[in-house]
Amino acid sequence: MNLILLGAPGAGKGTQAEVICSALKIPAISTGNILREAVKNETKCGLEAKSYMESGQLVPDEVVIGILKDRIAQDDCKNGFILDGFPRTVPQAEALDKMGVNIDKVVEIFVPDETIKKRLSGRRVCEKCGNSYHVDFKPTKVDSVCDACGGKTVIRKDDEPQTVSDRLKVYHEKTAPLKDYYEKQGKLVTVVGQEEVSETSKLTLAAIEA
Ligand code: AP5
Repeated sequence: MNLILLGAPGAGKGTQAEVICSALKIPAISTGNILREAVKNETKCGLEAKSYMESGQLVPDEVVIGILKDRIAQDDCKNGFILDGFPRTVPQAEALDKMGVNIDKVVEIFVPDETIKKRLSGRRVCEKCGNSYHVDFKPTKVDSVCDACGGKTVIRKDDEPQTVSDRLKVYHEKTAPLKDYYEKQGKLVTVVGQEEVSETSKLTLAAIEA
């Protein structure tokens, strides 16, 4: 099964992608995580992406499309995958169609902008392994220490309030039109993100299985 998770920054795509990944045993592919790794390793693509990401803008389509194409050609994707954060523009969705990838379902996780702003101000990520936490909803066992690797948890650079506002603006302008794109293909289902992660997970899995 090939799935897309759509939603504003901070709607909970990454969180739900992990849940679906363990439930359906298919890999979750986050273009954001791949790009952050590239930035950390200072690869050519990472150096190109860095300034766009830090200012809350989208990385150019051709860069992201190339990354995605390489990733889904890997062996672990042969029984399906979950795309978290791709496509993010209509040209990216068209590129996916041109690659001959059949998408079974697109799940939009809807969360109002004001809730997102509150959520992202509390997110913390491990600077070593990238694991994601939240000061209220998913705290680390020891303050500022990653449960998984013991690394230090910090605020993601693009989670500063002004950058979050810019990311939301970009989402509404460039990514939200994808709802129409997939609605027309009869593939879009919308799940309203709940206060409890587990409640959103129940709705998301039910939407996939329906
Ligand atoms: P990316 O990493 O994809 O960022 P994003 O879409 O902005 O998404 P986030 O990771 O911020 O949020 P999420 O929806 O995954 O939410 P999460 O589960 O973490 O992309 C980063 C950048 O890379 C982009 O800005 C762009 O520059 C570039 N990029 C990536 N892909 C690209 C593409 N295709 N084209 C061009 N550029 C691209 O949850 C957020 C927080 O809320 C967490 O702390 C979590 O614990 C908490 N939380 C989650 N669910 C709940 C809940 N139900 N209740 C309470 N808290 C919750």
